[in-house]
Amino acid sequence: MMKVCVIGTGYVGLTTGTVLAEFGHDVYCVDKDQHKIQLLIRGHIPIYEPGLEEMVKQNKQLGKLHFSNNLQEALQICSVIFITVGTPPLADGRPNLTYLKRVIEEISSNLTSHKTIIIKSTVPPGTNEWVATSLLEKGIEPTLFDVVSNPEFLREGSAVWDMLHPDKIVIGIKRPEPIKTMQALYRNVNASFIITSLTGAEMIKYASNAFLATKISFMNEMSRICDAYNVDIKEVALGLGTDPRIGPLFLNAGLGYGGSCFPKDLQALEQAALQKNITPEILLAVQKVNDTQIDFYFAKLNEALTSLKNKKITVWGLAFKPETDDTRYSRALHFIEKLVGAGAEVHAYDPIVQLDTSPPICHTMIYESIENSDALIVATEWDEFKKIDWKKVKDLMKGSIVVDGRNFLDPQLLKRYHLNYVGVARP
Ligand code: UGA
Repeated sequence: MMKVCVIGTGYVGLTTGTVLAEFGHDVYCVDKDQHKIQLLIRGHIPIYEPGLEEMVKQNKQLGKLHFSNNLQEALQICSVIFITVGTPPLADGRPNLTYLKRVIEEISSNLTSHKTIIIKSTVPPGTNEWVATSLLEKGIEPTLFDVVSNPEFLREGSAVWDMLHPDKIVIGIKRPEPIKTMQALYRNVNASFIITSLTGAEMIKYASNAFLATKISFMNEMSRICDAYNVDIKEVALGLGTDPRIGPLFLNAGLGYGGSCFPKDLQALEQAALQKNITPEILLAVQKVNDTQIDFYFAKLNEALTSLKNKKITVWGLAFKPETDDTRYSRALHFIEKLVGAGAEVHAYDPIVQLDTSPPICHTMIYESIENSDALIVATEWDEFKKIDWKKVKDLMKGSIVVDGRNFLDPQLLKRYHLNYVGVARP
């Protein structure tokens, strides 16, 4: 059992800390945000993440998971420190490292015994090296710390599962000593260790997200071409995915990728490349396809309705994907902006997201949201939308257009209820 401090209680920090406590470690989660810590102390979690709240409660009760605002105290108790603070994008696309820098400053002034400092926040190539160098420059003895880069591969909505069942544990190190600590930390996990340099680990994280985003944009570009040739993109995805060299996952064409990771990480990697005078041609194209994918759906809807002015449009699904309440870079919100810009009256429903601002007009009841609508756009593939009563939808709507933004609805089923299915590359 190790004493572990986790700094930053966003979805990565909270999941990491909670699952490490589940593994049997004694975990101290620290955050500057007092309100968040008070919530956590009372056993509530500030985000929607399936399975997390129960696990937090259980481990708190067992006395293995602690929450506080007192970093100094946690640093005294723990020999292992995870840094999981946010690195939100700056206006130019580079990540903001202010929070990380502040934490390093605070750790450096409290280093009295050896600490393994593990950086999990997604940071540009060279940042972990910078952390190690800056600690030395502050006069800290090299024997007093190890810096380890240990990027996360957690998907929002299934973060707990991903932390319990990782495909690999990536460890970036400067010397072999911390490997034993990392093995002890992850002793309950059955996954291979990929050992590399600090910068190598940072690059594995960025390359993973960039590659996944590339798969999505590739399929979205294919969907544009398939649409022009009356070919079903889902059949193409099926044919492609059976080749083990390609694989079946992340081949879903649709409105494009959103969330706090892919858009931010692609921009950050682009900036990192440009800083070294390398033009990242593929990264640029991937982002361009993603930015313009909604236009294809928008054009189809516009054509089907002749004009969007004063039309009542309902959007189902506001989060950037199902099983999360995160709306950062949500494609649905981007679509809504375009609809509002074209003069439409936009209504919305999401199983958990309620926006404070209007437009759109948010509803808490799914069927109420489509009353008298001219068109419905399904922007995320929530389970609730898969079980919908389409007859009721048809009866309540004024129009009959249903735009499938995630290619998960059954066009034949909709047709049976006289609904007009609209998709890109779904003939
Ligand atoms: C992503 C990665 O999948 C995680 O491995 C990584 O750890 C995380 O970023 C991160 O960097 O922290 P996440 O952003 O939670 O996880 O969500 P994904 O499930 O990857 O989905 C991202 C977006 O791609 C969503 O908008 C989703 O709708 C879209 N998507 C996904 C598609 O459009 N098509 C697909 O085939 C798959």
